[in-house]
Amino acid sequence: MRPDAQQLAASEVERLTRAFRLLGDPGRLRLVAALLDDCEYPVRKLSSIALLSETATSQQLRVLHDAGVVRRRRVGRQVLYRLSGSDTRALARRAVQRAALRSSKRKDPLVTYIITEPCIDVKDKSCVDVCPVDCIHESDRMLVIDPEECIDCGACEPECPVEAIYPEDAVPDKWEPFIRINYAYTDGLERVNELVHDRAAQSPPPTISGYRE
Ligand code: F3S
Ligand code: F3S
Repeated sequence: MRPDAQQLAASEVERLTRAFRLLGDPGRLRLVAALLDDCEYPVRKLSSIALLSETATSQQLRVLHDAGVVRRRRVGRQVLYRLSGSDTRALARRAVQRAALRSSKRKDPLVTYIITEPCIDVKDKSCVDVCPVDCIHESDRMLVIDPEECIDCGACEPECPVEAIYPEDAVPDKWEPFIRINYAYTDGLERVNELVHDRAAQSPPPTISGYRE
């Protein structure tokens, strides 16, 4: 279930804002990312991973330590750092997983998945919950896939109860205009709304029993 942003308690918003702020620095983000998966490293190792001088690394580790994001312990002459459980750690984990997924599955830029006519006025949204990169977006009358973010994982396709989703190179000819409609997301949802409106006016979507009467 998607959380309702309006129902987030003020204290939660404050906690999350603090976590985002801590990650809002390239060096700190790299440091937190380096320590995911329960690694424990000294400053020298962290400075090479974070592409920072040892002085800058120590400064940023102090910020993270004061915020409760990292713990440290002395072993002989070395101080080792590791992450504590925190919102910052959880956010970094999600962000790094997402970035890794995107780069490991970087697709042929000419191919994406496309949502087509059966979605109009149905908007079941089962597809949204399975998309690992949150690239399916809601317009007034249907959902569309952001072609620049879709990584072609195909997880959405079997979830749609009205079979509205196709790989771009398998979209049925009659629904080819929906390729342009999905691509219009990069120009904004208003443009998508205009195109869907025009398409539905020219070619009203037929009924789908149980979904669109
Ligand atoms: Fe539309 Fe099917 Fe997704 S109806 S919202 S494409 S699950
Ligand atoms: Fe998401 Fe479907 Fe693309 S699940 S990544 S929109 S293929």
